[in-house]
Amino acid sequence: MTQRTLAIIKPDAVAKNVTGKIIARVEDVGFTIVAAKMIHMTDAQARGFYIVHKERPFYASLCAFMTQGPCMPMVLEADGAIQKWRDLMGATNPANAAPGTIRKDFASSIEANAVHGSDAPETAAFEIPYFFASLELCPR
Ligand code: CMP
Repeated sequence: MTQRTLAIIKPDAVAKNVTGKIIARVEDVGFTIVAAKMIHMTDAQARGFYIVHKERPFYASLCAFMTQGPCMPMVLEADGAIQKWRDLMGATNPANAAPGTIRKDFASSIEANAVHGSDAPETAAFEIPYFFASLELCPR
């Protein structure tokens, strides 16, 4: 089933100049990039995006990290896009990420972990319109 997921190339990966390498992996496995833009989130925007984690001990630190520089949200489309992107990203903690995954190759820590992806259809339904208006989505 064709599905969409929200992906973010996080500030650590943008700062390392590996945005293009990560996009190449996205294209190599057959995703259609339906939308993408470079933004620099405010604290309020990061807190709103990660609101589901607001009770977690890492919430403030995560939001500070996500606002330290530009990041690139994208909407990716494919059959089973949510799981397909999670497989390509690898485990949240790069110490546990499988060889060949984006986090294994580009992440530095569980916080500076290079990329984000929606974890379920309901999450994608919140996350995609958080960053993109419907007119910004360009299906092929
Ligand atoms: P992400 O997929 O963007 O979703 C929530 C983020 O919180 C996660 O990636 C990590 O970058 C960050 N994070 C920081 N500390 C932890 C932790 N202990 N457990 C899970 N996620 C964490």
